[in-house]
Amino acid sequence: MRAAGRIAAKARALAGKMVKAGVTTRSIDKAVHDYIISQKATPAFLGYRDYPASICISLNNEVIHGIPSGRRINKGDIVSIDVGVMKDGFVGDCAATFIAGEGSEESNRLIQITRECFYKALQAAKPGNRVSDISRAVQRHAESNGYSVVRDYTGHGVGSQIHESPEVPNFIETPRKKADPRITEGMTIAIEPMINAGVPEILILDDGWTVVTKDGKNSAHYENTILITGSDPEILTVCEDMP
Ligand code: MF3
Ligand code: CO
Repeated sequence: MRAAGRIAAKARALAGKMVKAGVTTRSIDKAVHDYIISQKATPAFLGYRDYPASICISLNNEVIHGIPSGRRINKGDIVSIDVGVMKDGFVGDCAATFIAGEGSEESNRLIQITRECFYKALQAAKPGNRVSDISRAVQRHAESNGYSVVRDYTGHGVGSQIHESPEVPNFIETPRKKADPRITEGMTIAIEPMINAGVPEILILDDGWTVVTKDGKNSAHYENTILITGSDPEILTVCEDMP
């Protein structure tokens, strides 16, 4: 999983460097695809539930699962990139939101808080805690900064499959309807806050994939695959060039 994670992290960094006005989202997908193949790995998203590309690229009001296309990125767009890599039977899954150019103060703040939500959650990802401690950490940080948390999608266990149990929600469900498992040493999970500038509700576009905010406001995403250890968790989707 370290090997898969490193390739995924490098692919995310490569994609992030390509986020510039005038670039098509498909050209980023192609570059990431070719990089992953060059590492003797495979893009874990390609063909997953018939998903047609190697990465998801979601602009501005798009939350997740944007499909790469001939559309060009504009100056100031916020661009969420999600990459999954399968290497030697194991998966690394990570995402981040980048800006084309400098971006507005609001856009930079949304991206920063979303990243901080991940790191707050990371501190809660310890044996003895429960998954809800991760969820609470994300929700608290997002909402105390005036943002909302997407409820229709969650983080997840990850291993030989992209999506394994447990679900790792970014919010607390009251009253609780689902199990709230304990976090144990050796677990590998993807923590992935999806944070909206406005309302938490989402819609799915007619392409069957693209998730957008209901109010049209921006959304940011940040994700890493982590390993639970007896002390601090280890980020597996890591490389020299972390967003
Ligand atoms: N982005 C999702 C995740 O991080 C997985 C994408 S599924 C795909 O868990 F089909 F869009 F690839
Ligand atoms: Co994920």
